[in-house]
Amino acid sequence: MPAEIAVTIALADVPEGTMHGCAAGGREIVVCRTKHGIYALDNICTHAYARLSEGRLRGTRLICPLHGASFDVRDGRVLGAPATRPLATHSVSVVGDRIEISAAPADPKPLAL
Ligand code: FES
Repeated sequence: MPAEIAVTIALADVPEGTMHGCAAGGREIVVCRTKHGIYALDNICTHAYARLSEGRLRGTRLICPLHGASFDVRDGRVLGAPATRPLATHSVSVVGDRIEISAAPADPKPLAL
């Protein structure tokens, strides 16, 4: 269980291949569910200001809707310009039918289902 759980969302609200934006601890967070696991990252692009949850999720690649920068949801690293700074990641766990998300940035740890 992640420390300082800030928000929980229903597992059913994030089918595989989709993402879900939420707020936790004063931060905007996007939860991405891939076939590799569930990941939570800051939802605001590090390039300018756009909500990544309004972009696209292709496998483990999260693509910004504004200028097309892309990030790896597994660790937040930049995969494609124009962003140069990685996204902060947040720890997640599944408890029953809920996803629990910590607002504190954390080391990326994939959550296999
Ligand atoms: S705001 Fe995301 S790439 Fe520019």
